[in-house]
Amino acid sequence: MKNSVKIALLGIGNVGSGVWEILERNHDRISKYTGVPIEVKRVLVRDVNKKRNVSVPADLLTASYADIVDDPEIKIVVELMGGLNPAYDYIKQAIENKKSVVTANKAVISHYGRELIELARRNQVELRFEGSVGGGIPIINTLNKSLAANEIDTIVGIINGTTNYILTQMTNQGVDFDTALKMAQQKGYAEADPSSDIDGEDAAFKLSILTFIAFGVQVPPQDIPREGITRISEKDIQYAAQLGYTIKLLATAKKHDGKLDLHVHPALVPNNHPLAAVNDEFNALFIKGDAIGEFMMYGKGAGSLPTGSAVMGDIMDIAAALPAGSPSKLNRLNGFDEDVERLKINGEGWGEYYIRLEVVDRPGVLGKISTALGNYEVSIASVVQRGRGERIVPLILITHRVEKRRLNQALEEIQEFDVVDEVASILRVEECSG
Ligand code: NAP
Ligand code: HSE
Repeated sequence: MKNSVKIALLGIGNVGSGVWEILERNHDRISKYTGVPIEVKRVLVRDVNKKRNVSVPADLLTASYADIVDDPEIKIVVELMGGLNPAYDYIKQAIENKKSVVTANKAVISHYGRELIELARRNQVELRFEGSVGGGIPIINTLNKSLAANEIDTIVGIINGTTNYILTQMTNQGVDFDTALKMAQQKGYAEADPSSDIDGEDAAFKLSILTFIAFGVQVPPQDIPREGITRISEKDIQYAAQLGYTIKLLATAKKHDGKLDLHVHPALVPNNHPLAAVNDEFNALFIKGDAIGEFMMYGKGAGSLPTGSAVMGDIMDIAAALPAGSPSKLNRLNGFDEDVERLKINGEGWGEYYIRLEVVDRPGVLGKISTALGNYEVSIASVVQRGRGERIVPLILITHRVEKRRLNQALEEIQEFDVVDEVASILRVEECSG
C-alpha cells in the first residue's frame, strides 16, 4: 500500500485479534481520521501454523523478531504478547531502532515504564500504553493530558475485569469460583496465567502505572500491599449483601500529608456507592483532582475489541503525527517526583472492617468478644448473628474506623477463646467519601 504507515503486531491473541478486526472493520474511517492508511506488515507469533480467530495472510506471519525490528519500513511496533520477557527486550530493541511502540503490557510498563519512556525520549520516538490499564477506558490519556492541570489526590477503582466478572457471577448468579474463572478465561479476559488476576497482581501492576502518571512516582508493583479474591467465600458475599454491601476488588491510591496510601484489596462497598454497580468485566475509576473535583470513568476493562480500541487510539495518534515528526509534548510524565514518601498500609492503616467469626452459640459470647475488642480501642458499629440452633454460628461485626494494627492484636487474642472456632474473614469496608 503506497504511503501507508507500516506497523507490526507482536502477538495476535485476544487483544491482537481485536486490533486486527478493528483495522479491517473501520479501515476507511481510520485512514480518514489519521490522514494516512495503516497497514500491518508483519505479525509475530510463537507458532505460525496455529489456527487463529482472524484470517491473517500466511506471508505476514513470522516467528522471528529480526524480520520486524530490522525492517526500516516498520515505524510502529505493537507489543501484545504479554509477560516481562521477551516483551521488555523486544520493546527496548524497537525503540533503539527508532520505532515507536504501543503496548498493552502492564507487567512491562509497571516494572520498566520510566526507563522505557526515557529511552523513547532519547530516541525521539513514542511509547504509548493506553491498553495497559482499564481495557477500553481511556484513563492514561485522560490523566496525562485532559487532567494535566490538576493535582490528583485520590484514585479508587475496579481495575481488573476477570476478578470483577468472577465476583459478579458469584454474587448475582450463585456461580462457584472455579466455574466463574473458567468463564472469564473463555471470554478472553484473564491473563495467560490467571493467578495474576485472582491474586491481585494484575491490579497492582495497573495501580503502579496509575501512580506514576497521577503522582509522578514509580512504585515497584511488588511493593504495593495486595490481597486477591481467593479467600472470598460465598458466605461472605451473602452476608455482605444482607448488610447492604457488595464485595469488590479495589485498587486505591490516596495522597495525604505528602504520603501515599497504596493497596489492592477486596472490600465491602456500600450499595449506594457508584462502584457497587460496576459489574462483570466492566472497570471504573473514581478520581479526585483539585480543579475537576470528583470524576469517574466507566467501561469494559478487558476483552478483545475494547482493549483493541485503546491500542488503536494510540497507533492512530502516533501515525497521524509521523509526517510532521513532532508529536504533542503535553504529558504529566514530563515531571517525575521522587520525593513523595510512601506510606504502606500493611497492618498500619486505618479503616472500617467487616469481621466474620465462627463462634459457639452460647449466652455471653458477644459480651466477651466486645470487651476484648474494646481493650484494643476497636469500636463496633454493628453486629449480626446468623443461624441459631447450631453449635457453631457466624457472628458478623462491622467496626468503626480503627487502626488495623490494633484490630489484628485484638483478633489474635480473640481467636484463642474457647468459644471461638475461627476468625473466618476480615475485609475492609470502603468508606463512602472515596
Ligand atoms: P494472548 O491471547 O495469550 O495472546 C498472546 C499472543 O502473543 C499470541 O498470539 C502468542 O502467539 C503471542 N506470543 C506470546 N509470547 C510470544 C513469544 N515469546 N514470541 C512470539 N509470540 C508470542 O494474550 P492477550 O490476552 O491478547 O494479552 C496480550 C497483552 O495484552 C498482555 O500483556 C495482557 O496483559 C494485555 N491485556 C490483555 C487484555 C485482555 O482482555 N485479554 C486487556 C488489556 C491488556 P501464539 O498465538 O503463536 O501462541
Ligand atoms: N486480565 C486483565 C483483566 C485484562 O482481567 O483485567 C485487562 O487488563
